[in-house]
Amino acid sequence: GAPVEVNISKVEPGQLIRVEWRGKPVWVVRRTEAVLNGLASLDGQLRDPASKEMQQPEYAQNAARSIKPEFFIAVGICTHLGCSPTYLPDSFGEQVEGVPSGFFCPCHGSKFDMAGRVFQGVPAPLNLVVPPHHYVDDNTVLIG
Ligand code: FES
Repeated sequence: GAPVEVNISKVEPGQLIRVEWRGKPVWVVRRTEAVLNGLASLDGQLRDPASKEMQQPEYAQNAARSIKPEFFIAVGICTHLGCSPTYLPDSFGEQVEGVPSGFFCPCHGSKFDMAGRVFQGVPAPLNLVVPPHHYVDDNTVLIG
């Protein structure tokens, strides 16, 4: 499949946009500073906080799992059996106490934080996948 170019200049803080790459949904999420600042505090509740159990691009091997901390780019497919999790931008508190936002898989209840890291005690074995991508310029990211 060909790489997919995404213009991120109009993505608002907190917004998620979906594109399709190789037949898969890919998410581009613009995270707020509050979300970014809160990521580290979740490490103790996550199955694999540093994503050591999976392969991911070198540029995603950091606390935010992204090139630009603000923009999280992930394949929007649950690592359990392949459903597409739902983005809960401001109501994740009902799913995980004290966590304001994240991704919830409706199929069997897996929960992921705003860096796509899976919480403990759910069926999904791995964090969400970060697809190969790079920035062409400040407003354009190329997926694939
Ligand atoms: Fe997502 Fe099973 S497919 S929890």
